[in-house]
Amino acid sequence: MSSPVRIAILASGSGSNAEKIMEYFQHSDQAEIALVASNKADAFVLERARKFSVPTFTFSRKEMEAGTLTQKLLADKIDWVILAGFLLKIPDELTRSFSDRMVNIHPALLPRYGGKGMYGMHVHEAVKAAGDAETGITIHLVNEHYDEGKIIFQASTPVSPEDSPEDIAQKVHALEHEHFPRVIGELLGR
Ligand code: GRF
Repeated sequence: MSSPVRIAILASGSGSNAEKIMEYFQHSDQAEIALVASNKADAFVLERARKFSVPTFTFSRKEMEAGTLTQKLLADKIDWVILAGFLLKIPDELTRSFSDRMVNIHPALLPRYGGKGMYGMHVHEAVKAAGDAETGITIHLVNEHYDEGKIIFQASTPVSPEDSPEDIAQKVHALEHEHFPRVIGELLGR
C-alpha cells in the first residue's frame, strides 16, 4: 500500500474549514494533514491544529516572499497544499513548486466576485449589493493569477432579499464545510 499523501493547510484566520479537513482525514489511510501553516501567529487555526496534534508553522509575509515557506513545505515532503482562508498572494515560486497540487476555496461562484479585494465579507457584501438570487463556493487549482486556476467543483445556495451579508456568509460556510474535505479526497484519488 502506498503511504498517505502529505497535505499542508495554509490559513490566515479562524480555520473552520481547516478543522473540517483535519477531522475528515483524521483516520484516513489516503492522506495525512502533515502541517498547518499561517502568516498570523495568533490565528485561531493554529489552536485547532494543536487539538488534532498537527504540527504548525508561522511565517511573515517577508519570510514567505524570501522562500521560507516553500523550503519548509519541501523539507516536510508535502505533496499537496490546501488554501483554506489564506489571505496573502502566493509567490510564483511556491505556485510553481506545487503546480496542479495546490487547491483554494473561494466563497462565491467564480468568475463572479473574484480577484483583488474579493475576500471575506467583501464578497458577501458584493453579492448582497448586486441583489443576486444565488451564491456559492468554488474549489479550484491555483495558478499565478488570483482565482483563475482550473475550477474543480462549485455548489450554490439561494439568497433571499431578506438575507444580510452575515446570513449569506453563514450559508456559504455551511456549503464549504459540507463539500471541501470530500472534494479534496476525490482530487487526491484521481
Ligand atoms: C472561507 O469562507 C473561504 O472560502 C475563504 O476564507 C474563509 C475562511 O473561513 N477563502 P474559515 O477560516 O475556514 O472559517
